[in-house]
Amino acid sequence: MTERAIQTMPNSTDESPPDSLLDVDDLSDDDLAAVLSTAADMKVARKRGESYVSLPDRSLAMLFEKPSTRTRVSFEVGMTQLGGHAVFLGPDATHLDHGEPVADTARVLSRYVDAVMARVFDHGALEAMADHATVPVVNGLSDDAHPCQTLADLLTIYEAFDGFEDVSVAWVGDGNNVAQSFAVGSAMAGLDLTMATPEGYGPDDEVLARAADRGDAPEVVHDPEAAVEGADVVYTDVWVSMGEETEREEKLGDFEGFQVNGDLLAAAPDAAVMHCLPAHRGEEITGDVLESDSAIVWEQAENRLHAQKALLAYLLGAT
Ligand code: CP
Ligand code: NVA
Repeated sequence: MTERAIQTMPNSTDESPPDSLLDVDDLSDDDLAAVLSTAADMKVARKRGESYVSLPDRSLAMLFEKPSTRTRVSFEVGMTQLGGHAVFLGPDATHLDHGEPVADTARVLSRYVDAVMARVFDHGALEAMADHATVPVVNGLSDDAHPCQTLADLLTIYEAFDGFEDVSVAWVGDGNNVAQSFAVGSAMAGLDLTMATPEGYGPDDEVLARAADRGDAPEVVHDPEAAVEGADVVYTDVWVSMGEETEREEKLGDFEGFQVNGDLLAAAPDAAVMHCLPAHRGEEITGDVLESDSAIVWEQAENRLHAQKALLAYLLGAT
């Protein structure tokens, strides 16, 4: 996707939107440009107090197997702002946790709502849901991917650098869900991405292959300083993801030396710092870095709202 593309894309393309968004490469490059462009317009409109598009009478089911602050609130508020409604179904709220199969849940929810957003452990559960739903299914984070985060990340980088061209990003930390979607999205956007992870914590080969399919796959290294040297953006995520609590001590040991702190950022003193949040100060990032002017994490968090509103409008065919 070129820089010019995002600036000139209309808010819809001639292509049909994808049926579901399980990862960011379910979007074509044109879809991605259209969603980001619409998100930017929606953000401006919101700041002016204007409504942008509307999804009256449309409903979104939001299924959560894990906790959430940003994803839950931004989707729920986003649907309200678009004139629709969101139904929060938290852990243990449905029969999913009591033996009703994913396929049955997907088929029934499809009779009530216009889209399903789900946060799950097993990515396969999302695939099963998408297979059986007759409405779009949106990944609100799985153990493998977090495409909605990537949409907000790309919008944030685009705003901060006025485009993607010649922007270099260093990912420092775990190569799991957030990192994997970001790797694919970066390839689609044309970002120059280097990922520094401890040995054994890099993105899956299958994800790197998908990134290579859509652009340049990231270079994966195991030396954070080498990755950060001269980078425009330094991005990190927690070391202990939701569901990994029993691995905590082992992971804290494995990630030693991968903290985003003042010493590491000496190799890229002007870098913007990103974090998908929640942040664990003193683990993957220090409090002083997170609170510094270099951190663009609050804008990044806000952009979840705008990016997801644009995505919902696109998937649901709003005009
Ligand atoms: N970044 C993110 O997805 O945050 P939540 O876990 O709060 O939704
Ligand atoms: N990798 C983190 C991301 C949280 C948004 C997790 O899965 O917990």
